[in-house]
Amino acid sequence: MLQTSAPPSPVPAPSSSSSAPDLATLLEFARATATDPEVLARLALHPTERTWIRLEGPGGSEAWLIGWPPGSETGWHDHGGSSGAFVTALGELSELSLVMPLPSAGWRSLELEEGVDRQRTLEAGRGRAFGPHHVHQVINPSATGHAVSVHVYHPPLPQLRRYARQGDVLSVAAVETQEDW
Ligand SMILES: [Fe+2]
Repeated sequence: MLQTSAPPSPVPAPSSSSSAPDLATLLEFARATATDPEVLARLALHPTERTWIRLEGPGGSEAWLIGWPPGSETGWHDHGGSSGAFVTALGELSELSLVMPLPSAGWRSLELEEGVDRQRTLEAGRGRAFGPHHVHQVINPSATGHAVSVHVYHPPLPQLRRYARQGDVLSVAAVETQEDW
């Protein structure tokens, strides 16, 4: 159970249609793209900054090829109610996530119960799909090597929320829209 600082408000269901790609389709796209040398060759890597290229995903989804310098990370965030998938293409990524889905609106701060943290290591060729209320952070844990990964979201990201975490307390730090990233 969660202890929220404000009563959660109803979360609008993401718009969906029969043509919306399912999680398996998103994951398969990310996996196929992550093993396509022609796509990977288009991405320039930077020594200290993340780099990215926007790609066309399946069924109107939004996709990104991202380069991760050693030690880079996203910070805790959600995906504004979009579902998605990502697959490591080169190197290795570490994902920290919460086992319980969290509404993407209607709260500002909450206390996480013990045992909700998960960590998984995604080496090249491995990935995961996630539903609309997934909260995570992604890290390239390497001290020396870049990682590259493919990410796909449906519907295309309307916004995302960034969270600050202190111990077991997760707080909304910022709400970003496409103009911010
Ligand atoms: Fe993410």
